[in-house]
Amino acid sequence: MYSPMQFNTIIEPFRIKTVERIRLSSPEERENFLQNAHFNPFLLHSEEVIIDLLTDSGTSAMSSEQWAGILRGDESYAGASSWLRMEKAIQDLTGCPYVLPTHQGRAAEHLLYTRIGGPGKVFISNTHFDTTRANIEFSGATAIDCPIAENRDPSLLHPFKGNLDTQQLEENITRHGAENIAAVILTVTNNSGGGQPVSMANARAVAGICQRHGIRFILDACRIAENAWFIRHREPGFETQSYRDIAQQMFALADGCIMSAKKDALVNMGGFLALRDLDLAVQCRTVLIVTEGFSTYGGLSGRDMEAIAIGLSEVFEPDYLNYRIKSTAYLADKLHALGVPTMRPAGGHAVSVDARAFYPDIPLDQYPGQVIACELYRLGGIRCCEIGSVMFGKYDAEGRLIPAAMDLVRLAIPRRVYTQSHIDYVVEAFGELVRRRDQKTGYRIVYEPPFLRHFTARFAPVEG
Ligand code: F0G
Repeated sequence: MYSPMQFNTIIEPFRIKTVERIRLSSPEERENFLQNAHFNPFLLHSEEVIIDLLTDSGTSAMSSEQWAGILRGDESYAGASSWLRMEKAIQDLTGCPYVLPTHQGRAAEHLLYTRIGGPGKVFISNTHFDTTRANIEFSGATAIDCPIAENRDPSLLHPFKGNLDTQQLEENITRHGAENIAAVILTVTNNSGGGQPVSMANARAVAGICQRHGIRFILDACRIAENAWFIRHREPGFETQSYRDIAQQMFALADGCIMSAKKDALVNMGGFLALRDLDLAVQCRTVLIVTEGFSTYGGLSGRDMEAIAIGLSEVFEPDYLNYRIKSTAYLADKLHALGVPTMRPAGGHAVSVDARAFYPDIPLDQYPGQVIACELYRLGGIRCCEIGSVMFGKYDAEGRLIPAAMDLVRLAIPRRVYTQSHIDYVVEAFGELVRRRDQKTGYRIVYEPPFLRHFTARFAPVEG
C-alpha cells in the first residue's frame, strides 16, 4: 500500500513570478553607508540594505490575484465596486455592519480615539502599540498597559504571552471608575515582544468584564490571522476549527475593531475601522470625510481596496499561515541553537533578540540593542529595529538615562518576501556575531529630537 511521505522542510507555498533585485554591497561600502546614516539603520537608504527586517508593515509581496485585482480597481469617487467588495469582505469577517476605510491603521485610531478619548478618559490594553498610545495621549486621555507578568520575562515559555492581565484590568476599572474607561483594547497579536498571541479564553474573559461594566471593547486586529494560528495549535478545543472561524469568533466578542491592512491584509497600504454602533460610526464618518476622503474610499485608491478584499481572504489559507508561523519559528529556533537569547517562544511576525543578555558588558546607556542593529548591518547588510532604550528611554533630572523595561532588537519578517536561503543567511550572520560577542562598548547619542527619537537620532561609537 502506498503511504504518503511526510516532509520536514516547510516550503514557501508560492512560486516567484516577478523578482526585485537586491544589491549585494561589500563590507567596506556598508561601513561607509553606516557612517553616513550616523549609525542609525532608520537613516539607511533601502538600496543599501540586503535583507530588510525593519518591519512587516506594508512590506508584503502581493499575489498574482491581488495584482489582477489592482487592474480591476474601480476608481469612482463614490460607491466604487472595489469599495463594495472591501466593505463586504470586512463585514463578513468582523460581523460589524459599519466599515470606514482609512489610508492606514493610525488614521483609524485617530478617528476613533479622538472621538471616545479626551481629558479624564482612560484606555486599558494588553499593550498599546506606539501609534495607539500616541493617538490616545494626543486626545488628552491616558493609556495603561496591563500585559500578564510572563510577558516581561523574555526567556519564560508561555503559550499566550500576549494576554491581558484580567485582575489588573478589574483593579484599574475600580480605581478609575467604569464611566471613565473609554475602551479596553486587545492587540492581537501583541506586537511588543514580536507578536505574542492572545488566547480565546483571555479575549472571552476581557469581553465578559467589559460587558459587566458596560465598557467598550475594541480589537486591534492587524495580525489576527497569525493569532488564529496560535489558538488552533495551542488552545484546547480549537484543533478542528478553521483559522477564519477562529478569527470570526474573536471579532464577535468585540464592539468594533481597527486594522492596519499593511499586515494581515497582505497589502502595501490601507486600513479600516469597523463598528457595531451606528451613532459612533456616524460621528467617526463625519471626521473621515473631512480629513481622509469620502466614506467609500477613505484615503485609498479603488485598486488598494480591491487588493485588501483579496488579501483578507488569502491570509487565512492554511498552507500560507502554516508556512508563515513556522518560518518565523525556524529563524527563532536556529538563533536559539546558536545561543542567541531571544524572546521565547517565537511570535508570529518577528523574532526579538534580548540585547541585554547578548551583550551583558555593554552599559545600558551605550545601547546594546543599537550595537546588535549596527553589527548585523556591518556583517550582512541586514537591517533590523532596536526596541529598547533608544526607542523608549527617558532621562532623569540629572540627565542620566532611565532605560526601557527591556532592550530588544526586532527582526520582523515581511510576508511572502524572503525565502529560506535568505533566512539562513541571517542565521549565518548571527553565527559570526556570536563569535565576536566580547564587545564591551556601544554608542552614545550625539543628536536627538524631542519626540520619537529612534527615527532620526544620530549616534557615535564610544571608544573602548
Ligand atoms: N497597531 C499595531 C499593533 C501595529 O503594529 C501598528 C503598526 C499599528 C497599529 C499602526 O498601523 O502603521 O498602518 O498606521 N505597526 C508597524 C510596525 C508600524 O512596524 O510594527 P499603521
